[in-house]
Amino acid sequence: MDDAPEAEPDAEPVTGRPGGAARVRSYVLRGGRLGSGQRRALDELGPHFVLPFSGGPLDWAAAYGRSAPRVVEIGFGMGDATAAVAAAQPGIDLLGIEVHEAGVGALLRRIGEQGLANVRILRHDAVEVFERMIAPSTLAGVHLWFPDPWPKKRHHKRRLVQPAFVALLASRLEPGGYLHCATDWEPYAEQMLEVLAGEPRLVNTAAGFAPRPAWRPLTRFEQRGLALGHHVRDLVFTRSSAPARCTP
Ligand SMILES: C[S@@+](CC[C@H](N)C(=O)[O-])C[C@H]1O[C@@H](n2cnc3c(N)ncnc32)[C@H](O)[C@@H]1O
Repeated sequence: MDDAPEAEPDAEPVTGRPGGAARVRSYVLRGGRLGSGQRRALDELGPHFVLPFSGGPLDWAAAYGRSAPRVVEIGFGMGDATAAVAAAQPGIDLLGIEVHEAGVGALLRRIGEQGLANVRILRHDAVEVFERMIAPSTLAGVHLWFPDPWPKKRHHKRRLVQPAFVALLASRLEPGGYLHCATDWEPYAEQMLEVLAGEPRLVNTAAGFAPRPAWRPLTRFEQRGLALGHHVRDLVFTRSSAPARCTP
């Protein structure tokens, strides 16, 4: 969760992948007690709103019971912003991906309290979800808000915003779909700008960093950064409708 970058992750096992290659994960799974409300929400609402990870493409119509623009949030933390977006935009089908059980429980609790019908959750590594479950050219938007900054140089390899993952995200956007990143860690913001600008399918909606869209809710991690005096950067890119120079 939001203090993950402070953890010492080098003992974390890497992912076994088809073909034998190993991948460094962008998170460290930590234990931690669940609150009783989170536990209850997991038990009662989990079966209705948490989707199983599967090797095949997600059947959105079956999962949401309708057809609507599809938006994915990667690493929703405790789900404050996810719930706010779902409530403000009932016309979208929002899929939140998070690995930490407490965060999943917290979002489920909000889903129950606010009666949110347009959110589903996947508790799994977002990289694998995008590889296996999100079909090419199907998403209206991707939110990647305050991914773990991994400030230490030897941990930079764990950052999510790298050319290969951004290429994967871009390939999953429909033409005109957007990728919205935000961070309060200036060196990571510079890396994001360089990587996103280098992805041939993406076009920047701004000249450099974007103004913060009024509709983006303040996230929990962001509030912590602001309290520390950090400057927040938003980046909003769209998938161009021109043919890509390379295919997914
Ligand atoms: C720094 S926190 C930010 C949480 C939230 N977006 C916010 O702004 O408050 C990053 C979150 O991303 C999650 N995360 C990191 N890598 C992930 C991955 N590969 N798949 C799913 N979640 C991931 C972490 O568990 C953590 O909760």
